[in-house]
Amino acid sequence: MSTRTPDAPTASPLLQWYDRHHRDLPWRVSPPMARRGVRPDPYHVWLSEVMLQQTTVQAVKPYFANFLAKWPSVIDLARAPGEEVMAAWAGLGYYARARNLKKCAEAVASQHGGIFPDTEEGLKALPGIGDYTAAAVAAIAFNRQAAVMDGNVERVISRLYAIATPLPAAKPLMRQKVALLTPDDRPGDFAQAMMDLGATICTPKRPACSLCPFNGSCEALRLHDAERFPVKAAKKEKPVRRGAAFVAVTSDGDILLRRRAESGLLGGMTEIPTTAWTARQDGETSAEAAPFKAGWESAGTVTHVFTHFELRLSIFRVAIGERVQTDDGWWEPVTNLEAQALPTIMKKAIAAAIPLAFKTAKG
Ligand code: ADE
Repeated sequence: MSTRTPDAPTASPLLQWYDRHHRDLPWRVSPPMARRGVRPDPYHVWLSEVMLQQTTVQAVKPYFANFLAKWPSVIDLARAPGEEVMAAWAGLGYYARARNLKKCAEAVASQHGGIFPDTEEGLKALPGIGDYTAAAVAAIAFNRQAAVMDGNVERVISRLYAIATPLPAAKPLMRQKVALLTPDDRPGDFAQAMMDLGATICTPKRPACSLCPFNGSCEALRLHDAERFPVKAAKKEKPVRRGAAFVAVTSDGDILLRRRAESGLLGGMTEIPTTAWTARQDGETSAEAAPFKAGWESAGTVTHVFTHFELRLSIFRVAIGERVQTDDGWWEPVTNLEAQALPTIMKKAIAAAIPLAFKTAKG
């Protein structure tokens, strides 16, 4: 490790590294093809980028393949029933994204003839497309000089320049540094290379600096302190909300389900009957609020961390002889649960009461 002043970083060592070590991803055009002018399908880039805001590359792959099998083009997605899109999205979390995905597909189909706009501004005018997605699609699909910032890129850039300002205040400076480093000729590959580097070499813990194409120009490495960056402002604790949820199963193997209100958290998704989720714990958030009177018994508690709060849901279950008439909802065979648009919290809740309800219930 050298203690001399690092060279000013440039994009070219990173691009050379990317040529050799890029990840092969289903939505990606490899660097040799990209050099010959082949661009990826903007629909594939957009869909993968929206999914990748939820989870890892490995977890996205099967969802991406399933979406393309069901809806090969953005026009197919625009025409798809909203329920089916929500069901295909279930498990990825943050369901507002799935609703916006559908709205965006509808706008591309109806206002742009199924062709995605090819500039950051044009993309940002579409529903559900924010700064990140607009920059990523503009750079990757259309080779535009857009500064693509995600968690991986923030880590790489904060180390490269040893940016001591904590996140999120440091974001404008980081964006400026990325914009300056973005090359004229291969901005799409550059954006993807930064993300791959952050995911595989410049990792949060124990980064592999000896393999890094920036190791001659990284200020954090010169300081022997890569893991200190990015500096983050202390996190506020999330408030806790509580509620109860009810798993009722008939002797025929039917479970009582409901549909959530169209607007708000998990809007339009399927759920088991549940009370309001509030900071209080009282008669309205406990077994007394069950959808009908029966011998409800406790099946434990499940927790789930949402963006703005942590939910602790007390689960109650009952086995009944036959269907009970309720104010809303319907009875669904437990064997058909996989096809429902159930968010992860509801899968966890059902799995607490019926351990074998899902082959792959996530904990
Ligand atoms: N993470 C999010 N988007 C990505 C992309 N296009 N390539 C690699 N990793 C990513």
